[in-house]
Amino acid sequence: METYYKALLPYKFEKEKALPAIAVTLAILYASSKLISSSNKKPLKEIPMHRSAYPYVGHLLSLGKLPSKVIAEWHKELGPIIKIKMGAQTWVSIDNPRLAHQLLVINGSKTSSKPESYFSHTYSMGENAISPSQINIYIPSIENQARKLVDRLIETTKKESGVHPFTDLEFFSINTIFAIAFGRKFESVDDPDFKDLTGLIEEGLEYSGIEYDLATYLPIFSIYDFFTGARAKIRSFVKERRNPSFRKFVKEGLQRSDHNLVKYLNKGDFDLSEDDLTVVFNDIVGAGTDTIAVTLSWNIAIMVHHPQVQLKAQEEIDRFIKSNDRLPTINDKEELPYCFSVIKESMRYKPTVPFGLPHLVDKDVQLGEYLIEKGTVIITDMTNLQRNPEFYPDMPESFFPERFMNNLKPMQAAVNGKFEERDHFSFGWGRRICPGVSLAEAEIFAGFVSILSRCSIMPPDEGMPDINGFIHGGLTMMPLPFKAKFVERSDSLIK
Ligand code: HEM
Repeated sequence: METYYKALLPYKFEKEKALPAIAVTLAILYASSKLISSSNKKPLKEIPMHRSAYPYVGHLLSLGKLPSKVIAEWHKELGPIIKIKMGAQTWVSIDNPRLAHQLLVINGSKTSSKPESYFSHTYSMGENAISPSQINIYIPSIENQARKLVDRLIETTKKESGVHPFTDLEFFSINTIFAIAFGRKFESVDDPDFKDLTGLIEEGLEYSGIEYDLATYLPIFSIYDFFTGARAKIRSFVKERRNPSFRKFVKEGLQRSDHNLVKYLNKGDFDLSEDDLTVVFNDIVGAGTDTIAVTLSWNIAIMVHHPQVQLKAQEEIDRFIKSNDRLPTINDKEELPYCFSVIKESMRYKPTVPFGLPHLVDKDVQLGEYLIEKGTVIITDMTNLQRNPEFYPDMPESFFPERFMNNLKPMQAAVNGKFEERDHFSFGWGRRICPGVSLAEAEIFAGFVSILSRCSIMPPDEGMPDINGFIHGGLTMMPLPFKAKFVERSDSLIK
């Protein structure tokens, strides 16, 4: 046998020198085979999963009506990364900023697909048109809508004991986006076209709920689906209600003489058909209206609880008006550090989109000790994430605007910056980051300063808004219905 081996070895075989070399080579081969197998395959640990999963349906029945509350509690019990079984689908939720960054930004090439993907390659075109450099074109229109919003809030307060502000905020955000997108406006909240559109948006959000998509999670429900026609209902909604309405808005927008987004996207190199434009604008309107109305609703509800914060913000706004003889816009935020901090802190304290949007993993990813497999859906628990004590050391559970006073970077820059420079996560992650962030920032700023320059926000006769509870509305987390009084300031500098 020895002769046989010798025959295979090089001509001058020296046993004493060769053996250590063979040993080293074998050791290296062994170590690298270990490395390869640990990085490719076996997770070192199972991702923790809450015990309340049932066979077949998994956690679908355990999430209840307030999934974000339940998932936040599971994180507290099980740690920053947890597995949730949504019937046949596996979801992973992350509630730690650093881990989320690692998974969704550093590994973004593997974790940025959408569970459904048409829009992902078309919305980047719309993104150009709502980028920071383009927003200035729209600021006068946003200011105009904000002024009308405050008129309505004051008028209703004079007539009634308090205003439920959501419909007015929705009107503000819809009119803003419609002016930008199609160059058209609605006349009042009673305008039949406006009612029709809010109905359309609400119906769309309803169909995006799990109950209309049970067959995706639980294949057995394709039978149920066959009988109840849930998917057929969605198809008919899209074909007969949503698409014709949006096709009409697109056509009207193309015919208008002033600058608007439809015209911008219709010319140049984009090469979008009318059907493409219909889908893109449906998504922009869907993503850019409720989010703004919900964010401002939280802001107002929080302000009712913090009259001192309102006074401080009003002083800052008044100082600006005295020296500039106009209301500030988002471009003046350096001169209004407190107002800008209040806006950021409201969004940190009460995130608008509690799980971000789901990201689909299309290649296995190793995250620390865990393997996240292809096909997994990733969500981020924004509430816990934005109260992480390492990231927000000063009273993370409390409303404390001062934490942002030394950070006046636009939210747009913060979301696209380095991890260490991020100050909040409300607009998501990496390649899928919200393309509407600059517009959102301009709208929220305009709404906030317009209201406080002319009114103080006070509790209604019924009592304080409940800011601890919430309800889910489609993808958003909104305050429980509440009223507030918008009492005109006798010392307002805006006439
Ligand atoms: C306060 C307001 C807003 C918040 C909190 C918000 C938040 C988000 C988040 C968390 C995402 C998902 C990011 C990810 O996947 O990591 C997103 C996506 C998106 N947002 Fe926003 N957004 C807001 C306003 C807007 C506005 C005003 C527009 C449009 C004009 C807009 C358009 C979009 C679009 C088109 C997407 C992509 C949807 C997709 O990938 O399917 N958003 N937004």
